[in-house]
Amino acid sequence: MTAHERILDPCAPRLTDPDTWSAFGAQWNSGEQRNLHCCAVLDETHDVKSFWFTCPDFRALSFEPGQFITISPVIAGQTLARCYTLSSSPTRPFTFSITVKRVPGGPVSNWLHDNLRAGDTLRGSGPAGSFTPIGHPARKLLYLSAGSGVTPLMSMTRASVDLGADLDITFVHSARTPSDIIFNAELTRMQTLSPGLRVLNLCEGQGAHSDWPHPLGRLDLALLARWVPDFMEREVFICGPGGYMAGVNALLQEAGFDFQHFHQESFDISRLDEETLEEVAPVADQQADTFTVTLSRSGKSFSMSGQQTVLAAAKKAGAIVPSSCSQGVCGTCKTALLQGTVDMQHKGGIRQREIDKGLRLLCCSKPTSDLVIDL
Ligand SMILES: Cc1cc2nc3c(=O)[nH]c(=O)nc-3n(C[C@H](O)[C@H](O)[C@H](O)COP(=O)(O)OP(=O)(O)OC[C@H]3O[C@@H](n4cnc5c(N)ncnc54)[C@H](O)[C@@H]3O)c2cc1C
Ligand code: FES
Repeated sequence: MTAHERILDPCAPRLTDPDTWSAFGAQWNSGEQRNLHCCAVLDETHDVKSFWFTCPDFRALSFEPGQFITISPVIAGQTLARCYTLSSSPTRPFTFSITVKRVPGGPVSNWLHDNLRAGDTLRGSGPAGSFTPIGHPARKLLYLSAGSGVTPLMSMTRASVDLGADLDITFVHSARTPSDIIFNAELTRMQTLSPGLRVLNLCEGQGAHSDWPHPLGRLDLALLARWVPDFMEREVFICGPGGYMAGVNALLQEAGFDFQHFHQESFDISRLDEETLEEVAPVADQQADTFTVTLSRSGKSFSMSGQQTVLAAAKKAGAIVPSSCSQGVCGTCKTALLQGTVDMQHKGGIRQREIDKGLRLLCCSKPTSDLVIDL
């Protein structure tokens, strides 16, 4: 039985009343916050679970494979927002999943693992993100992932198998040990159903599997060339931790790969960061570059360097600002700028019409004057 076949639980809302069919098929629009009904929780590995959801009003979630949603659980009285890629396929839009790896000490990933159960409800928004094959048509694809970075590529693979797409996909997934391989059984099964899909797992160590028959180690150019001799001809999608991404970038550069056919997403967060604050230039160098930020609701103000993001400085000053990706992707830190100007370098987390209305993403905005913000 696959995850797709196991997702309904007795608590899930059901289309039993004929009137409810009238709502059936309505879409959940991007950017809207909605209640998500958790209909199943599945263990994928010892530290990874998939959480399956429906919208209680039976809306379909329209998304592109590779996109993420932002969920906002209330934990110890505080609403925390985090992005999670949809690991399910957009071809099945009424029940959708996120797949979450525990991050040691991380508040949201651990809370989800320890508390979220079938029958519970969460707030969620999105979908968003530009790490998707839509708009990059290619028949020959190379998916490279490590750890929980498998999720967007799993969505892409599930979608192409569901669609019976005539694609040539090689999927190379890296994991610490065989027990850490996420979706191993389902990918193996999909491989038997679709002649164009080839799945290869690379583990750093054997763990408890002393009979693991495959090579061990990290992906390098020699192994990639051996396993995927035509990798230079493929459209590459890669997702994983920062170190893995840097390593793969370096080996593709060494091979002379054409980076126009390269698409990447990292889940690594340069969150808030006392480190970011410490990285700024010495005080003497900053004087011409120091601004005053006033929080209109609390009346609080603080000084900050023009080299810091407003989010990092506001959090450091004790303001509560919702945030998630810290990369200008998810839109969680969108806030009205009432006075002043910032240099905002976002990655799709805000629309032009919102910018025109005076909203800014504080995680990727650096001040270029004194500011008043709606906080
Ligand atoms: C676009 C996007 C999509 C994402 N999709 C997924 C997904 O499909 N599955 C998934 O499990 N996670 C995903 N993440 C990461 C997720 O949003 C959370 O950051 C993660 O679950 C940790 O949250 P937390 O609250 O438990 O810990 P946090 O408070 O976020 O972090 C706790 C500590 O761990 C570090 N840390 C946080 N995340 C990581 C990480 N991924 N690797 C290494 N160190 C980290 C932080 O720097 C911090 O020191 C995604 C992130 C982004 C930006
Ligand atoms: S925290 Fe995601 S856009 Fe700012």
